[in-house]
Amino acid sequence: MTEATSSRRKRVAVIPGDGAGKDVIPEAVKVLQAAAARGGREVALTEFDWGADRYLRDSTTLPADAVEMFRRDYDAILLGALGDPRVPGNQPGADILLGLRFKLDLYANVRPCVLFDRRLTPLKDRAEKDIQITVFRENTEGAYVGMGGFFKKGTADEIATQEDINTRKGVERILRYAFEFARERGLKRVCMSDKANALAFGHDLWQRVFAEMRREYPEIASSHMYIDNLLMQMVRDPAQFDVIVTCNLFGDIASDLGAQLAGGIGLAPSGNIHPGQVSMFEPVHGSAPTIAGKNIANPMGAALAAGMMFSHFGWDTEAEAIEAAVRAAILAGKTTADLGGTLGTREVGDWLANHLSR
Ligand SMILES: NC(=O)c1ccc[n+]([C@@H]2O[C@H](COP(=O)([O-])OP(=O)(O)OC[C@H]3O[C@@H](n4cnc5c(N)ncnc54)[C@H](O)[C@@H]3O)[C@@H](O)[C@H]2O)c1
Repeated sequence: MTEATSSRRKRVAVIPGDGAGKDVIPEAVKVLQAAAARGGREVALTEFDWGADRYLRDSTTLPADAVEMFRRDYDAILLGALGDPRVPGNQPGADILLGLRFKLDLYANVRPCVLFDRRLTPLKDRAEKDIQITVFRENTEGAYVGMGGFFKKGTADEIATQEDINTRKGVERILRYAFEFARERGLKRVCMSDKANALAFGHDLWQRVFAEMRREYPEIASSHMYIDNLLMQMVRDPAQFDVIVTCNLFGDIASDLGAQLAGGIGLAPSGNIHPGQVSMFEPVHGSAPTIAGKNIANPMGAALAAGMMFSHFGWDTEAEAIEAAVRAAILAGKTTADLGGTLGTREVGDWLANHLSR
């Protein structure tokens, strides 16, 4: 804990990033300030202008001292999104987003898929209780580590390799985190998903670690599904899942599917977490260039991500207040167009903040 922080006061680094990230983060900030004030808490915010504009101006992505600074001076990071059509290859995204996930060792990407209102799911005859899933995505390994290369690039004989890294330590800690989450919340089911039938080495490791660990949690009904079956089952009968835990690539995909089951990606929050250390919270969505800057992006995913950040601080009452405000806005039809409403990004942010200030 730095000098500046206490259980009542936290320091948060804010990186709006690009596109829709810049639209939704100011609204999430309004919401988190209102929720903090309501609980007598204080959040000191510092904004960082990293993203495509800055990169195009002076080539900055993630400054060399950033990781050390975040560890020393901040309790959490709130991030919008990174990606801009003017920067093919998205170097700032790779350096900032993946850089922070890897360098801060934020190994658990936690993505709740919670249906607030049954009218929002594209599935027929599903109620709120049927879609209450938390996806745990391994966040520091797998196919995302950037190991690989090209040989004879650009020729007819080109070869491209992309390594998939799975370590015992990495698999153990994400499985442990998912099981502990289930145990703490009294959730009864954990489903581990992999593709061990085809990826016979890396995912064999997942199978073996899972087989060992599930014995330590006898009160939890743990199960296994191959990823192709899992995605099908999430659509067929989402009520069978409480907690899903899987690798980096499959978690990325399964959590977007889960987000859509719960009303869409604009509503989906995520936490990049290393328990007890500075962690990063962001909406699941990207920079959505086609809707950016038009006051139409849904700010609720970003607001709920701020709520997850409060939970990480142990501010559960304030986190629940943010979730309750989002639920109330949805039930009252105070939403952006993606959820069927007529409000703009800023108007939804104002509504949520006002609701929390009442
Ligand atoms: N975490 C991140 O920073 C992150 C995540 C995904 C994609 N990206 C980047 O974002 C850019 C666009 O990627 P994409 O189109 O695949 O994904 P995206 O999430 O930006 O958009 C996917 C779809 O969802 C819609 N959408 C996204 N956010 C929304 C919101 N808040 N409200 C309403 N609708 C919303 C978009 O309009 C689009 O139709 C790319 O450069 C990509 O690399 C960044």
